[in-house]
Amino acid sequence: METSLQKSQFSIPPGFIDLGLGDPQFSLLPLELMRQAAEECLGQNDPEFLQYGAEQGDGTFRQSLAKFLSRGYVCPVEPGSLFITNGASMGLHLICTFFTRPGDTVFVEEPTYFIALRIFADHDLRLVPIRTDENGLLIDSLEEELTKSHPKFLYIIPTYQNPTGRTLSTEHRERLVSLSHQHDFLVVADEVYHFLSYSSQPPKPFAADTETGDIISLGSFSKILAPGLRLGWLQANAGIIHRFVNSGLLDSGGGMNPFTSAIVCRVLETGRLDDNIAQLIAAYRLRVSVMDTALRQYIPGVEYTLPQGGYFFWIHLPNGINASELQRWAEEFKVGFRPGELFSCRGGMRDYIRLSYVFYEPGELEQGVQRLKQSLDKME
Ligand SMILES: Cc1ncc(COP(=O)(O)O)c(C=O)c1O
Repeated sequence: METSLQKSQFSIPPGFIDLGLGDPQFSLLPLELMRQAAEECLGQNDPEFLQYGAEQGDGTFRQSLAKFLSRGYVCPVEPGSLFITNGASMGLHLICTFFTRPGDTVFVEEPTYFIALRIFADHDLRLVPIRTDENGLLIDSLEEELTKSHPKFLYIIPTYQNPTGRTLSTEHRERLVSLSHQHDFLVVADEVYHFLSYSSQPPKPFAADTETGDIISLGSFSKILAPGLRLGWLQANAGIIHRFVNSGLLDSGGGMNPFTSAIVCRVLETGRLDDNIAQLIAAYRLRVSVMDTALRQYIPGVEYTLPQGGYFFWIHLPNGINASELQRWAEEFKVGFRPGELFSCRGGMRDYIRLSYVFYEPGELEQGVQRLKQSLDKME
């Protein structure tokens, strides 16, 4: 039995710099903002948010969320197209539950978000990797795979992808949607990083096309407010939303997280979410630049595309170095990363590593990169 008093999902040994960790730094978690919103909410003396919630998610909350999304996506979002989740992970788990059976085929990007692979494994799904390049999913590779098998859905992280940081172009998005019509498969677009843009506005999200297509867009407050809230949403057409709302899970437990929704509703209505996102963007933009400078200064041999948003650098190691072997040295130098193999459903990507800049201060990022250089020196 677990007896430790550990509170967060990870623990880092003292003095260790884990550049693999994709969790926001504690100082970037909006404690004061949440305290104010919670006080205002609890001060209203209305206990309704402590009741079982509406299955689709609280109506007022969905209205505020729809307004926020309409502005952010620069396209109209209707409250009726939103279903409140406990986060994108739960959304993905529910999609697998309602739309697949064990043994069904699902297409994923190669590489993709490694924990999504674990969710798919929980549902005994057969995964087919679709190749990607610096512009994201390769549509030709998708077309080729579609001649061989029929997926229940394609899982894609189109904007500031995890782990590559890359973004799919508008043209490729359109081709993908038209292929999904032609071959009758669902597109599950995990758009959790869409609002964390450090340069220009990203392409129109898949969320914008949910009315006309079999598309489910996943969103989350984890990346723009706090992961501990366990609050997110999915956006889809009425038929798909109906499938979620009319589930035994919600019949029994009511809508997801009404208490947290009411507090976050306050954050949305008072414009504080926009302020928080602006602060995160300023902090992360600086860190991207610090990590980029450190990489170029200390390890000029590595290749990567500079992230324009999101959380990650996807690094191609020089001379075919195996990331798992590098990890052994990195541990000695007290630095961590995520080896590329984790993100591949076929054991590939062995000479890649994922680094993140969201958990550490700029000075620590630079030190982490120096330690990585020391580890690489041991390999050569
Ligand atoms: C692509 C992607 N989807 C989903 C999640 C998890 O989101 P949530 O906290 O909303 O479950 C993450 C977090 O790392 C992620 O990178």
